[in-house]
Amino acid sequence: MLLDTLYKTVRPALFRMDAETAHERTFAAMGVARVLAEAAGMRPDPSLACKVGPLTFAGPVGLAAGLDKNGVAIRTWDALGFGAIELGTVTGQAQPGNERPRLFRLVEERALINRMGFNNLGAAALAAQLRALREAGHWPRHAPVGANLGKSKVVPNEEAVADYLVSLAALRGLADYFVVNVSSPNTPGLRALQEKEPLERLLGAVVPAAAGTPVFLKLAPDLTDDALVEAVEVAVQAGCAGILATNTTLSRPGTTGRLDQAGGLSGAPLAPLAHAKIAVVVRAAAGRVPVVGIGGVATADDVLALLRLGCAATQLYTAFIYGGPALIAGIHGELARRAREAGGLERLIAR
Ligand SMILES: Cc1cc2nc3c(=O)[nH]c(=O)nc-3n(C[C@H](O)[C@H](O)[C@H](O)COP(=O)(O)O)c2cc1C
Repeated sequence: MLLDTLYKTVRPALFRMDAETAHERTFAAMGVARVLAEAAGMRPDPSLACKVGPLTFAGPVGLAAGLDKNGVAIRTWDALGFGAIELGTVTGQAQPGNERPRLFRLVEERALINRMGFNNLGAAALAAQLRALREAGHWPRHAPVGANLGKSKVVPNEEAVADYLVSLAALRGLADYFVVNVSSPNTPGLRALQEKEPLERLLGAVVPAAAGTPVFLKLAPDLTDDALVEAVEVAVQAGCAGILATNTTLSRPGTTGRLDQAGGLSGAPLAPLAHAKIAVVVRAAAGRVPVVGIGGVATADDVLALLRLGCAATQLYTAFIYGGPALIAGIHGELARRAREAGGLERLIAR
């Protein structure tokens, strides 16, 4: 397919660039990518639609937060076949993030390390994008669009609730779902908001303020099993619609020691840790709320492994950087074919 061929042609040049510069160059071509993707027909087969609590993902592979923080390429993600599209993290205030370089490729490991630090234009700018898309009649028809919310760096943890509420007030009524992100490792103190009392305060304010729009909680893989169980319980009691697990890890599992940059690790080496923690979260959720599995998903088998662990759907980020624009349609295509052979996705999962 033309889009894939183009990507494979430019990929060596992109991978010679600093990772974030390559990201920016690629974003400049997103309009072209959308037109080519629309022409190629890459959206998931309707048989792959999956219920994620009150939402229906168009397919079991969604876009994880961080790739499109400001919501500038929503129509392209939809055309590329993502089952759901998560934007952000946005914060109450626009902020530049950490100093560059802050994004590193580990090509052999199929991994990334990042310490972006929530560089974003702020919740109000994302709201403007979403409003414009809705008014133009271009809102994705099948893929839900979520807004992932974090805390502005300049705001101390004691005032975190107010900062999340600023974002929520800007975005209310515009996103299909919200995510409370308390799990990114690159904002000092953020992950302390995963502890019981601060989390109760935060979710106790955010869930009602979302006024019926589903709110998910995104958790880190570096929490102990007990802390994960506690966080899930707080989320369920607060009325969250589901849990997203996991974010990146500060640990360096299964790597060679060449990974000496500070930041969160994602991609293939994260998968075993993420799977272990996702299993804990699924058990703690006990069917009361759905779990979206994230961490090193790159193939149809990876997706099936997480669905078999009890996840309702998955998301990915890092594999897209390595696999390129045909990845999602490729995974969904293979899942649809295998589901057909098995007599449906449910049966394929049960095998
Ligand atoms: C460069 C980069 C930036 C990210 N930014 C965010 C973010 O802003 N908010 C968030 O919740 N997760 C963020 N993530 C984490 C991803 O959403 C995902 O949870 C994690 O990368 C694991 O999935 P993966 O192995 O498929 O990449 C980021 C990941 C990467 C690699």
